[in-house]
Amino acid sequence: MAEERNYKIVTMIPKEKVAQRIEELGKQISADYAGRTIHMICVLKGGVYFMTALSNAISEEVPVSLDFMSVSSYGDDLKSSGVVRIVKDLDEPLEGRDVIVVEDIIDSGRTLHYLLRMLKERNPASLKLCTLLDKPDRRERDVTVDYTGFVIEDRFVVGCGMDYLQKYRNLPYIGVVEFE
Ligand code: IMP
Ligand code: MG
Repeated sequence: MAEERNYKIVTMIPKEKVAQRIEELGKQISADYAGRTIHMICVLKGGVYFMTALSNAISEEVPVSLDFMSVSSYGDDLKSSGVVRIVKDLDEPLEGRDVIVVEDIIDSGRTLHYLLRMLKERNPASLKLCTLLDKPDRRERDVTVDYTGFVIEDRFVVGCGMDYLQKYRNLPYIGVVEFE
């Protein structure tokens, strides 16, 4: 584990705004998927808080099923390397399902670029991506994002599932880690 540098956490997006945006996304997705069943895939661990909140915001007329996968990207504490290894695969096949991959944040895009390509080979009926945050300035790989909570500038953030050294995932707001 890396040595801890001195830092403080400053609010970037308060919890009310996060909750309100997730409600909006839930409404939009409910409308887009009317008459279908959504199969949500959560990328552990960061996606878990957003996925539960988002699925709660989806109408009861649009049934939602869930599955989880865990990938490790051999990165350091602040960025991913793009070399993605599956640590835990999905429990169920995707064949014929309307899949939405739910992520906390898209940064370089390497993780999702790899993951989406792999999931597509499993022949879902449709495959979409929903992310709470997007940092497009840092994109190195093309990734089509279908639903975005917030586009943010290039800052290292925590909360709403995101961590720094495995901490702060539980914060209900988005905070910036400001290093001294
Ligand atoms: P990518 O492959 O560079 O797009 O990396 C995406 C993953 O890196 C995210 O799912 C997060 O786990 C992690 N990540 C990227 N930026 C941040 C950040 O600002 N805070 C916390 N984790 C981040
Ligand atoms: Mg993640």
